[in-house]
Amino acid sequence: MTAPITDTVWQSFQVPYRFPVSFTKDLFDTGNPTFRDTLAGRDADKRHRFVCIVDDGVAAAAPSLLEDIHSYSEAYAESIQLARAPVVVSGGESVKNDDELREHLHQLLVDTRLDRHAYVVAIGGGALLDTVGFVAATAHRGIRHIRVPTTVLAQNDSGVGVKNGVNRYGQKNYLGTFAPPFAVLNDYNFIEALPDRDKIAGMAEAVKVALIRDRCFFDWLEKHHSKLSSFDADAMQYMIRRCAELHMHQIGQGGDPFETGSARPLDFGHWAAHRLETITRYHLRHGEAVAIGIALDSRYSVLANHLEPGTDERICRLLERLGFTLWDDALLLRDSDDQWTLLQGLRDFREHLGGDLNITLLENLGVGLEVNEMDESRILNAIDWLSCRKFDMAA
Ligand SMILES: NC(=O)c1ccc[n+]([C@@H]2O[C@H](COP(=O)([O-])OP(=O)(O)OC[C@H]3O[C@@H](n4cnc5c(N)ncnc54)[C@H](O)[C@@H]3O)[C@@H](O)[C@H]2O)c1
Ligand SMILES: [Zn+2]
Repeated sequence: MTAPITDTVWQSFQVPYRFPVSFTKDLFDTGNPTFRDTLAGRDADKRHRFVCIVDDGVAAAAPSLLEDIHSYSEAYAESIQLARAPVVVSGGESVKNDDELREHLHQLLVDTRLDRHAYVVAIGGGALLDTVGFVAATAHRGIRHIRVPTTVLAQNDSGVGVKNGVNRYGQKNYLGTFAPPFAVLNDYNFIEALPDRDKIAGMAEAVKVALIRDRCFFDWLEKHHSKLSSFDADAMQYMIRRCAELHMHQIGQGGDPFETGSARPLDFGHWAAHRLETITRYHLRHGEAVAIGIALDSRYSVLANHLEPGTDERICRLLERLGFTLWDDALLLRDSDDQWTLLQGLRDFREHLGGDLNITLLENLGVGLEVNEMDESRILNAIDWLSCRKFDMAA
């Protein structure tokens, strides 16, 4: 039998991405042209339509925000146009579970007749940004999307990335796209209104990225821990900006912005964190779970002889000084088959990566290390160590 002849024509092209991440204050003060310049920058002769979707936590903390957006668009009416009144929707993780709300937001874009040159502006925490980013990316196969992150975590990590997503079919971020935003506008003033708990939670991502990429930043975090734990504005702003830059550098220069391979260096500490978030039914904030995940994987790095003994303790001390509690009883949970519930997180992570486990551990402060296996008894040993530390601290 002769083999069939296959004629293959290879398609190949590259799409360069470039978007600004600006740091400012008073974004909707008419004296600040950043928002207008961002929308009108590429085409100054046009009037640019936009809608704003606002997190209700932000609207409550900044009562004049909606009015400020109106006044701003009137002040710059020659170049921008608010296509309808800003829409306030609930913030927090529940927004990512709300199919009806998503449908409502799509309908709103249809009713407002937004085209692919108009803008969907999301103002809120990471959960609201993930949801609105998904809605914008899937309307007309992608309407321009501007993020205005309002939590520490969203400003220093999630908001400057290229992903969005919502929770569906019982899985976090099951529906989502890689869709770089048109721009990210970080306004430090929003951070001041944030509850202390969320101010602390976002700092875990700064410790994480310092540990895997930047020893100097880790030293800086240690040196400024008391300013950070009292939310000194200058220290918080430096921490947010440096952390955002390190995330942007990894995404832009790390060689895999759309995560097609298996390495996930920015997920240091996250296999356990994601599992802890789920098993505590989000009673732990993402950043709080990440802090515990960092502590666990730092101890594991020592137990596996990758990291010098004592460095794990030093990392834990920094996290605690920043305000984190490095323990949750969910670490000890067993499922109905008497298996450790947390360890399912490792299996989930492996499945998510297509079968090849790729975990980032630590080789030194500021230096990550990729490994392809984790020993379950060593993980249990690390949990035990955290548990003993907790009792020592309480004593
Ligand atoms: N897309 C990504 O790359 C990426 C990366 C990391 C995390 N995330 C996602 O980010 C989400 C977590 O985001 P988060 O930590 O920003 O929390 P969040 O969005 O859940 O917000 C926490 C709470 O703060 C309120 N809030 C927001 N800004 C406020 C402000 N300025 N003042 C007062 N209250 C305010 C919200 O209403 C909410 O109740 C998770 O869903 C996580 O999966 C996404
Ligand atoms: Zn994270």
